[in-house]
Amino acid sequence: MPVRSTQLVLHLSAEARYIAAAEFVTTVQLRLSMSRRILVTSALPNANGPIHLGHVLEQIQTDIWVRFQRMRGHETLYVCADDTHGTATMIKAEQEGVAAETLVETMRQLHMADSRGFLIDHDNYYSTHSPENQHYSELIYNRLQQAGLIFTEQVEQLYDPEKGLFLADRFVVGGCPRCKTADQYGDNCEACGATYNANELIEPKSIFSGATPQLRGSDHYFFDLARYTEFLQAWTRSEAVQPEIANKLAEWLDDGLRAWDISRDAPYFGFTIPGTTDKYFYVWMDAPIGYMASFQNLCEARDDLNFDDFWAVDSSAEVHHFIGKDIVNFHALFWPAVLDGSNFRTPTKVHTHGFLTVDGTKMSKSRGTFILAKTYLDHLSPEYLRYYFATKLNGSVDDLDLNLADFAARVNSDLVGKVINIASRTANFLVKQFDGVLASEVHDPELMSQFHAQVEPLAALFERGDTARAMREITALADAANQYIAKHEPWHMAKDPEQRNAVQLVCSQSINMFRCLAVFLKPVLPVTAEKAEAFLNVDALLWAHAKTPLLGHTINKFKPMLQRIETAQIEKMVAASKVPEAPAAAATDSETPATTETIGIDDFLKVQLKVARIIDAQPVEGADKLLQLTLDVGDHQRQVFSGIKAAYQADNLVGRLTVVVANLAPRKMRFGVSQGMVLAAGPGGADIFLLSPDSGAEPGMDVK
Ligand code: MSP
Ligand code: ZN
Repeated sequence: MPVRSTQLVLHLSAEARYIAAAEFVTTVQLRLSMSRRILVTSALPNANGPIHLGHVLEQIQTDIWVRFQRMRGHETLYVCADDTHGTATMIKAEQEGVAAETLVETMRQLHMADSRGFLIDHDNYYSTHSPENQHYSELIYNRLQQAGLIFTEQVEQLYDPEKGLFLADRFVVGGCPRCKTADQYGDNCEACGATYNANELIEPKSIFSGATPQLRGSDHYFFDLARYTEFLQAWTRSEAVQPEIANKLAEWLDDGLRAWDISRDAPYFGFTIPGTTDKYFYVWMDAPIGYMASFQNLCEARDDLNFDDFWAVDSSAEVHHFIGKDIVNFHALFWPAVLDGSNFRTPTKVHTHGFLTVDGTKMSKSRGTFILAKTYLDHLSPEYLRYYFATKLNGSVDDLDLNLADFAARVNSDLVGKVINIASRTANFLVKQFDGVLASEVHDPELMSQFHAQVEPLAALFERGDTARAMREITALADAANQYIAKHEPWHMAKDPEQRNAVQLVCSQSINMFRCLAVFLKPVLPVTAEKAEAFLNVDALLWAHAKTPLLGHTINKFKPMLQRIETAQIEKMVAASKVPEAPAAAATDSETPATTETIGIDDFLKVQLKVARIIDAQPVEGADKLLQLTLDVGDHQRQVFSGIKAAYQADNLVGRLTVVVANLAPRKMRFGVSQGMVLAAGPGGADIFLLSPDSGAEPGMDVK
């Protein structure tokens, strides 16, 4: 159907027919797809602290998927909330001298503002500390109990007699029973990696009062998860989770599941368990129910929504959860079992992502790479990060890295340099010479159909979360469009009155290619897409619009849509994120003369060295010292200008391995942008020796 109408469009010439065909496609598309009703969630951020770029990664991933579904014409609802309950919130409120209710409401406002800052389009952002959540938590618990899935059992746990509090493992410190290292938290040792019970620690202490904890027994409530082993074996293999997650879960499932402790003793910030006065639901019991509560709260505000349509066992709607890999067991084991046991539908799909690292390592406060959402927004536009994350997210559970140098280079080169450039180079000719009216036929139908042909394949990539591949396909289309413009050089033709017609045709085609790219990028770049819509003088772009060109239509004057990232903005953001480390103790037996300037390990760790293979080397016209090197750095290529021409013949370098400073900020030189620096030794000129790793090294390896 779409293919045929595209051909139809290309062969007809009357403008009215084009529009009719375009509308026809859109209507059919909408009607076909109206059957999908989709409820989407991101994991509920903890209410005891601000959100950082790791949380933002998840929300951006979810939001791109949501916006994509909406552009396809599907009814898509996106809800989230703050996860408020538990000891951590209670303690934090106590430290700040406010009521827990006040703390969680303040946090919720902050989290909402951060999400808005990143253009996250929640339909509702609620709280697990809500009447709706209490209602559904009690309902679910009562149903589980009636189904015989709840039992109680005595549990021995450490208790802080001074604070009057049962202590979770992470609230106890002491010496490691194996290697004796002091001040180890809870149930595992950071020094030797041993795992043990918190009550085996040497001289254990409560982190709250310093008191020695006592072992005390109390009755806990359990959900009989073991009875769900077979159910979950089938469910996890039903495409509800990614295959790699199913494999991981199979390890646990094969061992058989144990009952799940769903209660905590008073004092606790949460909901009391029905029929008790001093037992509370464990925070992980009511947290996922918070998805339902947020949705119920949305239903109360909207006449067109009905809770049961989405959550009843026989619901034909879809429920999709987006989560990080650390909370898979809660979403892919406990949650479906609890839902099934209480007569609700199970999720359609749990989409699990990996963890975010910054410049190749875990986010670090001392390196300034533990970046809060708010700090990022103080310095940079949200769309840059949305795009960068889109280029990295591929639907797998692999961790993904925000490389700050690469971040700037990608955004500047792909978005500003390629995509926006298509419109900025061609729009003015149309506006100045043709009153903004686009030609009424397609100039290069073959090229145009390359764009139309990507409509469904790109949709399939967005659907399965492989935006990395989608962004590569989109950049390839942008390259094709720029080559087309460079080939026809409308700026030359514009000087020749006989070529007037051709100028309109070439520029119109360019605008149409730009419009397709605007459609494909709209889930990622909603603000830029809105600016593109204003420029194109069109209604909100839908996915199906990329199947047909705009002909004879009048566009508006081009205005800049996206600024380049300046390295200084990134530097300021990192500086603002830096928490100074406690000064290291003065070295007493150091042999380093006091006068030598040294750098700390932290400075050294900032330099990211990678193995690279030189895949092309070219002399640079007009520069007698430089070679232009194309490097394969494992997962990408980059271009580096290097002053080694006097020492090496370009041809002899191709195929050699070397070492590149991978996170050097890109530098604009007279001949182009240099994206890094290769390492060489020697005084210079002909006496310079390129450093090469031993054989066995591979492009992309970290140099340590
Ligand atoms: N409150 C629970 C979720 C309850 S859902 C019913 C929780 N909160 S959290 O604030 O710790 O994390 C929220 C989400 O952010 C989780 O999906 C978590 O995996 C994700 N991330 C937190 N840090 C992250 C990174 N560094 N990288 C990627 N995602 C990370 O878990
Ligand atoms: Zn140890």
